[in-house]
Amino acid sequence: MFYTFKLLVWSLLLASSIAIGMYLGINGLNNYKEIWLYVFALFIDMGIVAWFVLYWRYISMPYALNLYGKFIHNTFLGLRDKRTVFLDFFVGKQRYSPGSILLSVFYKSIGFRRFDLYYFNPIAITKEPYEKNAEQIIHFLGLHGYSISIKPKLRKIVKLSFYKLPESYYYFDILGFLKRGDSVFLGIGKDGFAWRKLESLDHHLVVGESGAGKSNFMHVLLLSLLHSNNMDKINNIYLVDLKGGIELKHYENIDKMYFVYDIKKLDEFLDFILFEMNKILKELRDKNIRKAKKYTFIFFDEIGAISSYPDKKLRESIFRKLALIAMQGRAAGILLFAFAQKIDTTILPSIIVNNLQTRVLFKTSSDHNINLVDLKENLRKMFTMEVQDFPKGRCIYKDGVTSDKILLQVSYVSDAVLLSLVKYYEKIYPKSARESA
Ligand SMILES: Nc1ncnc2c1ncn2[C@@H]1O[C@H](COP(=O)(O)OP(=O)(O)OP(=O)(O)O)[C@@H](O)[C@H]1O
Ligand SMILES: [Mg+2]
Repeated sequence: MFYTFKLLVWSLLLASSIAIGMYLGINGLNNYKEIWLYVFALFIDMGIVAWFVLYWRYISMPYALNLYGKFIHNTFLGLRDKRTVFLDFFVGKQRYSPGSILLSVFYKSIGFRRFDLYYFNPIAITKEPYEKNAEQIIHFLGLHGYSISIKPKLRKIVKLSFYKLPESYYYFDILGFLKRGDSVFLGIGKDGFAWRKLESLDHHLVVGESGAGKSNFMHVLLLSLLHSNNMDKINNIYLVDLKGGIELKHYENIDKMYFVYDIKKLDEFLDFILFEMNKILKELRDKNIRKAKKYTFIFFDEIGAISSYPDKKLRESIFRKLALIAMQGRAAGILLFAFAQKIDTTILPSIIVNNLQTRVLFKTSSDHNINLVDLKENLRKMFTMEVQDFPKGRCIYKDGVTSDKILLQVSYVSDAVLLSLVKYYEKIYPKSARESA
């Protein structure tokens, strides 16, 4: 409080001196009695007071949380050691603008919020104290429910982005916003809608407790693969569900989509995939191409179910084949999307886990799951929210190629939306006469 006042007084003095100096510099020194000079200075001072009133919290934050001074030691005439503190200055607030009014209105309506603050230090700035104090910052500014993302800019500036992801459901495919060619839609993150390019995709491992939103996320991915012109680049999409659920059966009548529901069939199916994979890899080698241009997707709901089968030979055979696909599939354009409530070495061999590099973490209290993405402590600092408190559809998405971690809110696919979209795609991509897998 005291420091902020001191800063205000200094700013007023400095600004009026500059204003008066400039005025006299332009109009001549003997104009010092003119009333306009003082009106001008007053005007500037009023502006500064208004700035302080408006942004008091942001200006006082570095003082209140001690973020942090850089000290300069200067010896005054060789007599006294004097320390000058350079705290980080607040320089501005920027509203987030998604670039279109329609999008702005949409984001607002579903409760997505975002704004940025900039701080400057004349000597140098580090982002660590902000990261360390992220929770206190949120608390101090009264931004309950927000997360921070901290990025240094130009050596002396740090940018704090505050964002709050939607809390109410937002429906998949709303107004067709979520269609974009050559990409899959993931959800809403700090920069708004998040997509990933088809060609940059790698294997996915999605974990979270029952009811966290994994299957819903799978529908979002599947529906975005059906979107736009994505299907032109897709060989087949296989849906494996050993829980015997009916969840994925909806898609059965769409071309290129096949369903595997039985563990014996799974073993044969993997032979077929390995055969295809080796064929593609050989072709790539012969033509000296590094990566396949067409994709095959294998969606695996509850991959943990394999380990619960009593037939050890069958289990090991499946794991061996899955390991080969995990290791070599990506180059051949064969991508595994595995979903599970919990992952540890008793459920899935580490050779498979280690090769599923994109990790998606939904609500969970299992440290095994959390460690797949990062350590609990780091995640709390990064997103100022505990993974065990995530609402439905909230996840941390770790991109396996860039290693970037983002917080996402996945859109909701209600039964009605799912059924109507599936009906629509059945018409566009009717099942051809080929044998089902
Ligand atoms: N993104 C979301 N937004 C809002 N609600 C959601 C979202 N995702 C899921 N839900 C709600 O949570 C319920 C359970 O979600 P889902 O079936 O996806 O969980 P799950 O993680 O697959 O659980 P399980 O491991 O038991 O299969 C859904 O029926 C839906 O009502
Ligand atoms: Mg599920």
